[in-house]
Amino acid sequence: MTSPPRPVVVSGMRPTGRLHLGHLHGALMNWVRLQADHDCYYFSADWHALTTNYAQTDAIKPMEREMFVDFIAAGIDPQRSTFFVQSAVKEHAELNLLLGMITPLGWLERSPSYKEVRENLSDRDLALYGFLGYPVLMTADIILYKAAAVPVGADQVAHLELTREIVRKFNGHYGEVFPEPRPLLTTAAKVIGTDGRKMSKSYGNAIDLGEPAESTRKKIMGAVTDPQRQRRTDKGNPDVCGIFYLHKIYSDAGTCAWVDTNCRSAGIGCVDCKKKLLERLEPDQEAMRARREALLARPQDVEELVQLGNAKARARAQATMEQVRAAMKLA
Ligand code: TRP
Ligand code: SF4
Repeated sequence: MTSPPRPVVVSGMRPTGRLHLGHLHGALMNWVRLQADHDCYYFSADWHALTTNYAQTDAIKPMEREMFVDFIAAGIDPQRSTFFVQSAVKEHAELNLLLGMITPLGWLERSPSYKEVRENLSDRDLALYGFLGYPVLMTADIILYKAAAVPVGADQVAHLELTREIVRKFNGHYGEVFPEPRPLLTTAAKVIGTDGRKMSKSYGNAIDLGEPAESTRKKIMGAVTDPQRQRRTDKGNPDVCGIFYLHKIYSDAGTCAWVDTNCRSAGIGCVDCKKKLLERLEPDQEAMRARREALLARPQDVEELVQLGNAKARARAQATMEQVRAAMKLA
């Protein structure tokens, strides 16, 4: 007996820098878990990387190779999931073009992330057709595989709502070709950087995935804790401390309770607390580093896996595009 097809999940990441613990616990661990009962497509959104920085393209491919290595090192299984490169499947571009014909400008201009990114990156010229069209290309990425669900962070939910609107409009005009993908909101662990803000490469407060034990230790020992806790004798509040958030990810319940109680009573100091965290974090980082290095030493093997994934993704994308062209009476 063949088992029923598993629901399709699609998600992508832009290859714009080394992945850090924020990516690992905010997205990748969820991707890993989804493999158990979904048919997963995970890709490098290299074309999307161009939308906010068309001028610097030389880092995209090297970053992409590292990103695939990180995916595998984090536990994404190339035997079970398909990983591929967006630009290697040209059907993304074809569907993007067709969806562009039916997407009203107003929907794109109203997108909250469009406004927000333009404000945050005000030093860059973002009055660009490609940047405005970000959610259209993203829609193509998703529905090309007829995804039932998309694991995204809270910041991408508005994009997905747009995707659903575009799907409804397409299906309304040309017939029911696409399912409406649901957002799978990650119950993402919160990861705070070494300066107390959200962990982000652009803040320079990140701990990289598989960073060697030595520098992981240095960053943790130097990290900001509860800013109100100036002296060893001051009572602390773990709820405002990034170290406690990492304990919740890495340490067992008993240790978390120990931190919670003794931070509030000043029973332990931050140094004790950090050392306790490192007992779990260091070996984890070390194991990740070893897996990454083993993979980086075999670039040919990783390349082959990506090629296989590209071919698999392409086959599915081509099948969908045949239906699209037929529905639109273009074939
Ligand atoms: N927008 C996503 C990000 O910035 C990347 C992305 C591109 C994506 N296409 C997608 C995510 C399709 C999910 C599905 O992280
Ligand atoms: Fe943070 Fe731990 Fe210090 Fe409390 S004891 S402030 S949780 S590092």
